[in-house]
Amino acid sequence: MCGIVAYIGPREAYPILIKGLHRLEYRGYDSAGVALLNGKLHLYKTHGKVSELEKLVADKDISGNIGIAHTRWATHGEPNDINAHPHYSPSKKLAIIHNGIIENYATLKSELINRGYTFESNTDTEVLIHLIEDIQVNEKVNLFEAVQIALNQVIGAYAIVIISQDYPDMLIAAKKGSPLVIGVGEGEFLVASDATPIIDYTKNVVYLEEEEIAILTRNGELKIKTIKNKDKTPYVHKLEMQLSTLEKSGYDHFMLKEIYEQPRSIRDSMRGRLNAQKGIVSLGGIIDYEMKLINAKRIIIVACGTSWHAGLVGEYLFEELTRIPVEVEYASEFRYRNPIIYEDDVVIAISQSGETADTLAAIKLAKSKGATIIGICNVVGSSIARESHAGSYTHAGPEIGVASTKAFTAQITILTLMALSIGSKKGTISTSKFYQYINEIDSIPEKVEKTLKLSKQIEILAKEFKDVRNFLYLGRGYNFPVALEGALKLKEISYIHAEGYPAAEMKHGPIALIDKEMPVVIIATNKGSYEKVISNIEEVKARKGKIIAIVTEGDVAVKNLADYIIEIPETIEMLVPLLATIPLQLLSYYIAVMRGCDVDMPRNLAKSVTVE
Ligand code: AGP
Repeated sequence: MCGIVAYIGPREAYPILIKGLHRLEYRGYDSAGVALLNGKLHLYKTHGKVSELEKLVADKDISGNIGIAHTRWATHGEPNDINAHPHYSPSKKLAIIHNGIIENYATLKSELINRGYTFESNTDTEVLIHLIEDIQVNEKVNLFEAVQIALNQVIGAYAIVIISQDYPDMLIAAKKGSPLVIGVGEGEFLVASDATPIIDYTKNVVYLEEEEIAILTRNGELKIKTIKNKDKTPYVHKLEMQLSTLEKSGYDHFMLKEIYEQPRSIRDSMRGRLNAQKGIVSLGGIIDYEMKLINAKRIIIVACGTSWHAGLVGEYLFEELTRIPVEVEYASEFRYRNPIIYEDDVVIAISQSGETADTLAAIKLAKSKGATIIGICNVVGSSIARESHAGSYTHAGPEIGVASTKAFTAQITILTLMALSIGSKKGTISTSKFYQYINEIDSIPEKVEKTLKLSKQIEILAKEFKDVRNFLYLGRGYNFPVALEGALKLKEISYIHAEGYPAAEMKHGPIALIDKEMPVVIIATNKGSYEKVISNIEEVKARKGKIIAIVTEGDVAVKNLADYIIEIPETIEMLVPLLATIPLQLLSYYIAVMRGCDVDMPRNLAKSVTVE
């Protein structure tokens, strides 16, 4: 996510702002910038690290005791100097920093272009500051009123801070969907995305609530109003947390934080792409290549690791919803196999980092043979994204933990929307089914929230199995890739050997492994093959294996057989991976913590495998 820091008070702003940006570097970013006001507004920004920004301003005027600063995690527009924040208004008297996604920025931008405005960047943020100034000038209102009117026109998520040359004693901050914290110091205010830049100056903080706008003035006055002009009383909290835990928003590890971010990250991956009420699924990033997908004779999915598991879910989704044959390939195998590639093939590359060497090489090979490349990445402007003809960003926010969690569920969400969009256009999904599916996927973030409440139960379960030496994960249909992913999560962070298999594959060998020392996790939510999953469970029980079963809430048959039951909310078969994965992520996490493993940076692993 982007990082926001702002200051107004008696002290020089720059040192406070730059230190604050360093504090926020852990959030992941690709560019940085600062705007300072000392009579005139000075704005400096650059692609790259905060240290690049420090070099850039070394010989510049950085005086002033009011300023805003930002580290950008690109969501709209490549990471480069132009797209970095802050962004000026047309008159260059206003500047803004923003964390979030403005879904209707394209509509707002075309209206502003029709009114004669031009834009430097292709960000949604620059559109907002142009809109604010346009309102201020044309409706002859003050800055606060202009911000209020503008935010009533915005659809999406924002945490913003605005600085104005005409209001040298004021900062305006506003929040909806993205966090924003105000530090209340002695005659000074800080504003930040989280408390880490604030804790050095004050422990008194005010958390802005949804659709609230704060007016911070130099005389120490803090006023809060909603965008509907309702007055709100600021509630000052006392910060208790230590800095190290603050960076993880109070979680012990980034991995746990990212597991818990999944209701938001799944919602963000749908934002602007799914309107269940209107029955609309539209992925803007592939619009120009949709016909290639609709007419594809074959889809090849290339990926590695967890992203490859998401690709397997994609295989089931696309074949069920679009009836297009799908092959899922390990990128490392595909690139060296001299594969047969046709010009009407569509290759979907899935990669959280967008930098995985094998996946990048695989799509370059496919592209050289005339295939169409669709990228599903989490990092805007990454190599795989840039090498692709089209694609969709997962918008999961930076994934710091080496073990991928929220990126996996975001990838599956994008694949589901893509398959639904293509299937509905191909006529391979009935209208009633289409509406059933999109309403169900719209409810998934809340169901993930509910599934996360299993955490305590799973922590207790983890104690039972933290010292075992092997684990078997079984699943059928959509749950087979979930079994593989659960096994990978466990082995890569707890170093316990774990294998995932299609449940029916047991009798072809793995059943020889079953004894009372072998715990077996089975995802048993299937409707179509439920009876078969029951027989798989009985096969394991007959050999004294311990069964941990993931079942749909209210299940009875499996409950009577399994040794441990984890109940997840009911959903349609194709969306079970988005829920069944959660308990497996938590089980791996707690076992690894109990084994004293370095959960966020497991031995021998890197977050992005940019070498072969
Ligand atoms: C996932 O937990 C692993 N860290 C790893 O398998 C990862 O999924 C794989 O290296 C692919 O990375 P990518 O998604 O960035 O391409």
